[in-house]
Order: sequence, then structure tokens, then C-alpha cells
Amino acid sequence: MNSYFDSQTYFSYLLEHCTEEFSADGKGRLAGGRQLLFFLDQLDIRPEHATLEVGCGTGRVLTVLAERYGVEPHGVDPCRPAVDYLHRQHPDWAPRIAHVPDGVLTSLPGRFFDRIVFWGVFELTDQVRTLVEISRAARPGARILVNGVRNADFRDDDTAMAEAVAAYRDKRIPIMLTRIDRLEALMAFLGFSIDRRFIFLRKEDVVEDRFEADRDTTRFAEATYILSKSETVPADLDIAATAYESPHASSLEAATGLAKPES
Ligand SMILES: C[S@@+](CC[C@H](N)C(=O)[O-])C[C@H]1O[C@@H](n2cnc3c(N)ncnc32)[C@H](O)[C@@H]1O
Repeated sequence: MNSYFDSQTYFSYLLEHCTEEFSADGKGRLAGGRQLLFFLDQLDIRPEHATLEVGCGTGRVLTVLAERYGVEPHGVDPCRPAVDYLHRQHPDWAPRIAHVPDGVLTSLPGRFFDRIVFWGVFELTDQVRTLVEISRAARPGARILVNGVRNADFRDDDTAMAEAVAAYRDKRIPIMLTRIDRLEALMAFLGFSIDRRFIFLRKEDVVEDRFEADRDTTRFAEATYILSKSETVPADLDIAATAYESPHASSLEAATGLAKPES
């Protein structure tokens, strides 16, 4: 159990830093809100799309998904107090908001979601496992937003990035640095095509909303991807999720109403 996220302490952090809502129309936005709307707009989300946010925390992105795009949002998070909070705040969403211990996503239904959003979370996950699990849960044709991919090979002159990495280590914040070439190879292997890749050259560019599309460079601070699930691969077989039984599966099913993958 990764108690870092599944704790009252982390929930208090979320309440302090991630409850103020992003405005669904971009007005009176929080820092980062304009980026969120820009990237979400790339997904062409329609009200009928089954749309999932992985790592939904206290629900501010779910609110934008509901208000701006008219979807009935699904969310999963390993922080039990945050999930309980969301169930209380939004009883109408409760059937679609689930606790996923350790961020394991095998209880998600297979080939179900049309749109999947990662916002401020991918860098906290076991990225290989998460991509494999998302690949199975995505419908062929699904579009996925993956933001905050921190590049292990950042620029030598990016002292802010070097300082941030040292701080993650000192404070034991479980943030991953990604080998971009290997991640992109895994995306291709899983049948994801990269529709757009936006890069933030230096760490400071993230808060300045300064990003570039499709620039061909390997050295940068962060990337945000728009992926399409273009083909199904053997790893997507539902059997991959049902080869073992999670002790949480039945409670998850009861809590979420999400069907387990057909066997
Ligand atoms: C910085 S918060 C962002 C919350 C939300 N996306 C937002 O922008 O308001 C990161 C969230 O990801 C969750 N998280 C951490 N590890 C995760 C994992 N492996 N899978 C899914 N969610 C995870 C945390 O519990 C937390 O709610």
C-alpha cells in the first residue's frame, strides 16, 4: 500500500492546494487553468463520451469536465479520504468515483472509456503499469491527455529543474523522471499514436504557460501528450486484468457500479 497518497496528511495537502476550482469558462482562472482548458479542448470531448480522470483528487478537473463539456465524469484516486470527500460533495457522481488502492487500475472495465485525462498525476504513477492498464480500459479511437511528463534528460542550463529534482528527493516526494524515448516506444507498442506532443523547454515555462507543439528535441523539462488509441494489442485483452483477483475488486464494483471486464 502506498500510504503516501492514501493518507489524511495527503488529503489535507489536496484540500489546501487542489480544491479551488478551475473555472469552466477560463475566467477567473487559477494558475494552470488556461493550460488545462487548452489541452482538454484538444480532446474534442462530447457529452456522450465516457470520460475518466485518473487521479481526480478533490474533483476540480471533474467539475470542468461536467460543466464545460457536459459529460458525466468518472474518476479514480488512491486517496480514500479524497474519494469519500467527493462522494459527499457530489452524491450524483458517487457511482462513478472509485478508490483504487495503490493506483492499480485493473478494476476498470475493458474498452470502455472514450476520453481519459491525467492532470498533475502521471508523474506520480508507476508509468509503465499505468499505461498498460489505461490501454486496456480505452476504447479503440479513445483520446487521452497525459500531462506533466518530467524528462529525465532535461537541459544542463535548467537550474530550476535541477533544484526541483533535488527537492523531490530530499522531501521524498514520489515524482518520476521519464526516459522520453522509452515512454514513447511503449506508447507505440501499446497501439497509442501521439497526435500532438507539447513541450516545455525549461521548468519555468510551465508556470509561464510557454509550450511548443511538435518540436523535435530530446532535451526539455516537461511534455504533455495527446494520444489516440489507434489499435488494440494483445496486452489489452481483458484476461490481463482478470488473471488474478484483487481483494478490493468486489468492493470497488459495489462502490462504483462499474462492471468488471467480461470474462
Ligand atoms: C496533484 S493531485 C491532482 C489532482 C487533480 N488531478 C487536480 O488537478 O485537481 C494528484 C492526485 O493523483 C493521485 N494519485 C497519486 N498516485 C496515483 C496513481 N498511481 N494513480 C492514480 N492517481 C494517483 C493523488 O491521490 C492525487 O489525488
